[in-house]
Amino acid sequence: MPRITFVSPDGGRKTIDAPDGETLMRAATQHAVDEILGECGGACCCATCHVYLDDASLARLPPASEMERQVLEFTAAPRRKGSRLACQVLADRLSDGLIVELPATQI
Ligand code: FES
Repeated sequence: MPRITFVSPDGGRKTIDAPDGETLMRAATQHAVDEILGECGGACCCATCHVYLDDASLARLPPASEMERQVLEFTAAPRRKGSRLACQVLADRLSDGLIVELPATQI
């Protein structure tokens, strides 16, 4: 199982073993990562699963789709270069070991 670490704005960390092939959004909500809301259920239309990834992590993953990039225009917290939607990133061998920074707000 891919191991994913979520880092809260206060520096708190939670590392989970995400089911292979699951999205980071679903894995996070199933493990009570409170900062990930996922209000649209992963339909890529709410932006409440916004996360930040560092450059090295971004380089390992497939790029954001055009739809994801459009929805990222509506995040509650400021968009950064490393912004992604957790519902569009899969837990797999590419994301194993990922450090995922959580924004201060999703709404
Ligand atoms: S869960 Fe709604 S955009 Fe990701």
